[in-house]
Amino acid sequence: MSQYQLPPYKIKMVEPIKLISKSQRINKLKEAGYNPFRLKSEDVFIDLLTDSGTGAMSHFQWAALMQGDEAYAGSRSFYRLENVVKDITGYKYVIPAHQGRGAEQVVLPALIKREGMSVISNIHFDTTRAHVEIAGGRAIDCACEECFDLDNYHPFKGNFDLDKLKTIIQEKGKENIAAIIMTITNNSAGGQPVSLENMRAVNHIARENNIPIVIDGARYAENSFYIKQREAGYENKSIKAIALETFALADIFLMSAKKDGLVNIGGLIAIKDDLELFQQARVRVIPMEGFPTYGGLTGRDMDALAIGLEEALDEDYLKYRIDEVKYLGDLLREGGVPIQYPTGGHAVFVDCGRIAPQIPFDEFPAQAVCNELYIEGGIRGVEIGSLLLGRDPDTKENLKADKEFLRLTIPRRTYTFEHLKYVAECLIKVNNRGKKLKGLKFTYESPILRHFTAEFEPCE
Ligand code: F0G
Repeated sequence: MSQYQLPPYKIKMVEPIKLISKSQRINKLKEAGYNPFRLKSEDVFIDLLTDSGTGAMSHFQWAALMQGDEAYAGSRSFYRLENVVKDITGYKYVIPAHQGRGAEQVVLPALIKREGMSVISNIHFDTTRAHVEIAGGRAIDCACEECFDLDNYHPFKGNFDLDKLKTIIQEKGKENIAAIIMTITNNSAGGQPVSLENMRAVNHIARENNIPIVIDGARYAENSFYIKQREAGYENKSIKAIALETFALADIFLMSAKKDGLVNIGGLIAIKDDLELFQQARVRVIPMEGFPTYGGLTGRDMDALAIGLEEALDEDYLKYRIDEVKYLGDLLREGGVPIQYPTGGHAVFVDCGRIAPQIPFDEFPAQAVCNELYIEGGIRGVEIGSLLLGRDPDTKENLKADKEFLRLTIPRRTYTFEHLKYVAECLIKVNNRGKKLKGLKFTYESPILRHFTAEFEPCE
């Protein structure tokens, strides 16, 4: 245990959780149509569905709720938040949003000026892709090759493929590229970090072609920590200095503050210096999120966020956070469970294509493993594979994902190493009977975003 960082906090408040019996779990899953999204959280023992808005606030944050200034316009809470965001990013303009996708719906349509313009990202997060497409744009992913090689170590599997980036710009024409989005860490690649060297090269390419750069920075503090740990020349820099250097390479910062903001709800838009874009965003935010000094948040939410943003830059906190995920990954690897290695910042991505190779992609092997893990231990993960990917909009055929992942996402400051050890023990058991698992077929499938509401029955 000593090889991992000890928790840099003690526990002041607890929320009881309960493991219902195995026969109850079997029934609950059946009632939920074999889709863990449809389970009640009270029937879940350890909830690893997401790290988004599920973490614990500190006592400083809880205390700050009392100083929330609930004014519609120009609250003290807003100015406290604005100061912190300006300080961390070095950007001039700040607008709050209710969460990450709120920030996306305000800014992305302002960048996508014409139907058919492309947006390039290392990998777009689902809602980011959706907002690009709703705004008439085309979302193109441009991840480096190492990202798809699960077994071999690479320090920055979240990086862009720079040659591919140049080729896409050349093929589409630079005037047809609305933005480049640097997703840090790269959630869909397993929370893998992006190096400053890679971001600098992206910045160079973007500047040459006059393309704005957006940072999708839900987990920018975790990314900065990886840079300190793994990139030559940054060992002795503070996380804040690394974050500032990162933000200097972009023009716009969109954040789901439910991750590295250490709050249960919140989002941010920050703009470096483009006054016209700020004015457009300010106009758009009003009908969508709220007046530009609250953007859908209460004063107390903004106060909690102002403090959470600072706390997330603490190195002991970050070391423990990253080590928690690594600890679970190490135990799984030792137990023979195939995962994306090394583990990333917020989750362990388990390769279920290898756990249950007998299940065809359109019977959703990762969903089958996810369900079996719930039955085994009351643990809820999430499928990131062919179920999530959906169908081809033209042919209506099921699309085949590159990898059939089960994501075990670790909420911040929430579970202990004992919980994670238990998760590993349960998944190792499921892995050992993986070849006996059966796939799933739909009894209900919605036309879009099917994974949230789908219902299934097990295949014979
Ligand atoms: N960008 C990234 C990289 C994200 O991971 C998320 C959310 C968003 C944007 C959207 O933010 O949820 O606040 O509207 N990710 C969560 C997840 C939902 O489980 O990975 P949001």
